[in-house]
Amino acid sequence: MSESIVLEDANGIAGPLRGSHPRAFIKSFGCQMNVYDAERMGDLAAEAGYRKALSVEDADLIVLNTCHIRERAAQKIYSELGKLREMKEERAREGRQTMLVVAGCVAQAEGAEILRRQPAVDVVVGPQSYHRLPELLRQARVRPGVVDTEFPAEDKFSRLPAPPPDAIRRRGVAAFVTVQEGCDKFCSFCVVPYTRGAEASRPVGAVLDEIARLADAGVREITLLGQNVNGYHGLDARGRPAGLAAMIRAVAAVPGICRVRYMTSHPNDMSEDLIQAHRDVPALAPYLHLPVQSGSDTMLKAMNRRHSVADYLDVVACMRAARPDIAFSSDFIVGYPGETDADFDQTLALVRAVGFASSYAFKYSPRPGTPAAEMSGQIDEQTKARRLAALQEMIEDQRQAFNRKAIGQRFEVLFEKPGRRAGQVIGRSPTMQSVFVEGPQSLIGELVDVEMVDIEPHSLRGRVVSTSS
Ligand code: 5AD
Ligand code: SF4
Repeated sequence: MSESIVLEDANGIAGPLRGSHPRAFIKSFGCQMNVYDAERMGDLAAEAGYRKALSVEDADLIVLNTCHIRERAAQKIYSELGKLREMKEERAREGRQTMLVVAGCVAQAEGAEILRRQPAVDVVVGPQSYHRLPELLRQARVRPGVVDTEFPAEDKFSRLPAPPPDAIRRRGVAAFVTVQEGCDKFCSFCVVPYTRGAEASRPVGAVLDEIARLADAGVREITLLGQNVNGYHGLDARGRPAGLAAMIRAVAAVPGICRVRYMTSHPNDMSEDLIQAHRDVPALAPYLHLPVQSGSDTMLKAMNRRHSVADYLDVVACMRAARPDIAFSSDFIVGYPGETDADFDQTLALVRAVGFASSYAFKYSPRPGTPAAEMSGQIDEQTKARRLAALQEMIEDQRQAFNRKAIGQRFEVLFEKPGRRAGQVIGRSPTMQSVFVEGPQSLIGELVDVEMVDIEPHSLRGRVVSTSS
């Protein structure tokens, strides 16, 4: 082992250097927004001279980018931190310094409580403040235990430095870009309005600049992210609010970008012009993640979803009229307070009626501070487990049926990376199926016509028909 020295770089992140390069490992939990935030924190670390570590063991700076959406997700963090503390102490005995950062929604929700439960943590930083990470690390070197969970008035994104070119190149073929954060809907079960704050949209120009840079570095597919992405209303160049449809059209026009997706959407914000965009923007993938949560109007009301089952089915019908090949996915919560067997049967009926390409089902998890956590009629664990299993079985059947239907069809596949076996490459169909073919690595980054020939448990096997770009 080489000795540790401390380097202070131009950006103020002081890092212990083994050999010549300190390394940072950023581990992300939860949603795609966190994946994006982790990339941006990685950019900050790269700016400060940190190389990317391939594992926790290899890292001098360890960031856990956490998720607070369900209780289990939050608990996982504390057990992870317990292990990291041991590692940190062992290294300290050898004279090697390790910085431990907790970022993301657990950081936002629990703040200084994290330091009380795990004093080995150096920095706690919320999702609205991570642009200040270099400064926070600098402070923590002098006095460990820095907490920043402010919702700053300043726009975090405009404070983030542009990612260094090397870091952008590592994004690969498909990249996420956050365009909107926070949520004003206040579904009764959800912590997001508390951890991510009120809805805020990034200006159109800033998003397009970022996407142009990504495209220059070889990114071909963009997924526009937001907790409530179809509520996007960022300002355009003339200072007027632009909706998601306008943003999608602009992104599709960026040279090099051949596919656009967006998530997650709320049924009430599927506007006419967004549906129109599905009709006439060829780059907009025919796939929509549109959580419904329940198929019972009584539950939807109790959840404060502000839409009915009929409203949801109406959106699905309009989307199918606009884009007949569109596929849907959804999120479901089972065992919400007061949910009866009859309510749950209505959820199964909705799943049957829509036919989803894929979906996620969760047992209701009471979150401190949310109205549902205080509601009477909490459902016992056994009932939740039984309903979850039944729903997951139906979801899995539908997923397999959807994949089977693809056999013999041709789709444009965007290849993203080498496959599991030598001589294979793997990519995604327009409707998010993972597709692999035998073919040269040069297919990576290409949009290729592929005929589906077989299904495997989690992917489709295809045969290249022609290269279309
Ligand atoms: N319990 C269980 N699932 C939840 N979700 C959000 N909050 C909770 C909760 N308290 C699910 C919803 C949401 C997805 C991201 O997580 O289905 O769409
Ligand atoms: Fe949570 Fe509802 Fe907002 Fe989605 S729409 S983030 S479920 S409050």
